[in-house]
Order: sequence, then C-alpha cells, then structure tokens
Amino acid sequence: MLPKFSSRAFLAPMAGVSDPALRLQCKKMGAGLVVTEFTNIHSIVAKESQLKERMKTIQEFIEYSDEERPLSIQLFGSDLSTLRKAAKIVEPFFDIIDYNMGCPAPHITQQMAGGALLQEVNLTQQIFRTLVNAVKKPVTLKIRSGVTDTNKFLFREIAEIAEDEGIQMITLHPRTVSQGYSGAADWNMIKELKEISSIPIVGNGDITSPEDAKHMIDNTNCDYVMIGRGAMGNPFLFEQINDYLKTNSYKEYSFKDRLDSFFDYLHLTSRYKIKFANIKGQAMRFTKGIEGGSKLRSKITLSKNIEDLEKIMSDAYISS
Ligand SMILES: Cc1cc2nc3c(=O)[nH]c(=O)nc-3n(C[C@H](O)[C@H](O)[C@H](O)COP(=O)(O)O)c2cc1C
Repeated sequence: MLPKFSSRAFLAPMAGVSDPALRLQCKKMGAGLVVTEFTNIHSIVAKESQLKERMKTIQEFIEYSDEERPLSIQLFGSDLSTLRKAAKIVEPFFDIIDYNMGCPAPHITQQMAGGALLQEVNLTQQIFRTLVNAVKKPVTLKIRSGVTDTNKFLFREIAEIAEDEGIQMITLHPRTVSQGYSGAADWNMIKELKEISSIPIVGNGDITSPEDAKHMIDNTNCDYVMIGRGAMGNPFLFEQINDYLKTNSYKEYSFKDRLDSFFDYLHLTSRYKIKFANIKGQAMRFTKGIEGGSKLRSKITLSKNIEDLEKIMSDAYISS
C-alpha cells in the first residue's frame, strides 16, 4: 500500500539536482513525497557487494535521511535479474520503489532503459512483473507520453499493463522522448490518463507557480502534482502550493529569503558526499530570477570550493 502523503505536491527526481539536501529542504517546506535521483540497477548491485565486504550498506552509496520519509527511490535499467537483485537490496531502506521510463538521454535510451522502454511492451510487462514480485513495498512508475510524435499516446497501453501488473501509482510527464523539454507539456494527456486509470495519477510538467499547480489539478483531476525545474532553488514552492490549494493565497518570498534558503541548503550538504559541481549548480538556481542574479552567477561559476562559494553568497546577502 502507498504511504499517506502529507501534501499533493511532490518533488520530481532530478539527476544532479534532487540530492538529499535539496530533498530534505523541500520536504521541510511541505513536499508530500520526495524521490531520489535515478539510480542504475547495475551500480546498486556492484556497490552492494563492495560495501558488504566493509560491513556497510547501500546507504553509503545512496544517501538519505529518515526526515525525508516517505521516500521513494527511482531505479533505471532493464536487465531482469539485475533489476530483481537491485530492488531487493534497496527495499529495506525506502518506502516506495519507482521505475524510470521517461529519461530521454541517449546514453540511457541506448541501453534499453528510460524512455526507450515505452515501445517495448513485452519487456515492459516483464519489468513490472519482476519488480512487483521482488518486493513488498509499493512499486510506482514514471513515464513520458511516447517516444516520438507518431506514437505519442504509448502511455495508454503502458499504463494499462502497469495497473494490471500491480503498479500502484503513475507519474506522467506528457512530452515525448524526442521532444526533450521543447514545447509545452500536454496536460490533456494527464486528464486522459486519470480517466482511464483506477490507481493514483501524478501530473508532471511545467508547474512553476501555485497557480499552475491548482490549474493542473482542476483541469486534469490528477491526484497529485510533481514539480521538477520549478522547485530548483525554490523550495518555498511547496509551502506556497499547499497554502494556495487550501486558502487561495500564499506568502511571497524575497531575495534575502532565497539566499537564506541557499545557506540552509549549504548547511545540509555538509552531512552528505555531494559533489561540489552539483552544489555550485544549486547556488546558480537559488539566484535565478533575482535582480543582479546574472552578475552573481558569473562569480559563482568561478568559485573553486565551498569557502569561495560561501563568501560570494555572503557578500551578495550583505549588499542586498
Ligand atoms: C536536471 C534534470 C534531471 C532530471 N533527472 C530525472 C531523473 O533522474 N529521473 C526522472 O524520472 N526524471 C528526471 N528529470 C525529469 C523531471 O523529473 C520532470 O519529469 C521534468 O523536468 C518535467 O517536470 P518540470 O516541468 O516540473 O521540470 C530530470 C529533469 C531535469 C531538469
């Protein structure tokens, strides 16, 4: 059974972005569910055997904290026996196992993983069956609508198979794999998926404000919304969406609030082994849309370590 979610707004899995520090921040700001960055099933299996020799668990490789719960781990990769092993390895640590069938990156689709699987109906069915049989925890799915414009409705068949095989929730990002991020997400597809499904549906794509979130819920009837790019450097969005859905109003946050929030993020990163390049990327995102942001970002680009970065951000805070 799925856990109970405290909010209808979820944080999307984002490689290089939804690290444990950002996830915790979003959770504290009201995200109902957070999902790890996608994780390669082969790496999980290989790492686990190395870690076992040192009496350590996979937690050393996939970092998280209990404060993030309910916490979903996203897996990718289609080799069935590796998938079974990886799912069993991670099951004790996570509340939900999510499966990625949306990633458009060529290095993923070329290994018959991510979005490429949408047109492999038989393999997809075996993947769902393998995962659902391997673990007792709920298995969920994240998909794009199709691979190219000519088969942009593949989600219909995949969703039906998923439900038959025991997948408990589906997130739809209604763009095709070949679209990447171009054009607008077609929210009508989320509406259609909700109509044909009897499991919870999570709508995803292009939500950047509380108004967008409400609009998606009202227009598609989806059970939950998932936010990716809109939450980058903006964990406040979850509180704002929750408030807006309840009261039709929400608190605005200032530049200083955003910088404060970056320092909170930075503080949290010290608990984990997050790459400096990723932290720097987050600093850039926390300064998006603010006055003088582009000058600040040029300085951030040149920073070489956490101390440099902290100084640049502190100076910006003082002069703001
Ligand atoms: C930098 C980045 C990394 C992403 N990594 C993942 C990932 O690991 N797994 C996944 O299912 N989707 C991934 N996505 C897709 C997002 O989860 C989401 O579906 C997409 O960005 C659309 O939502 P948005 O318009 O709210 O950003 C990623 C997106 C971005 C921008």
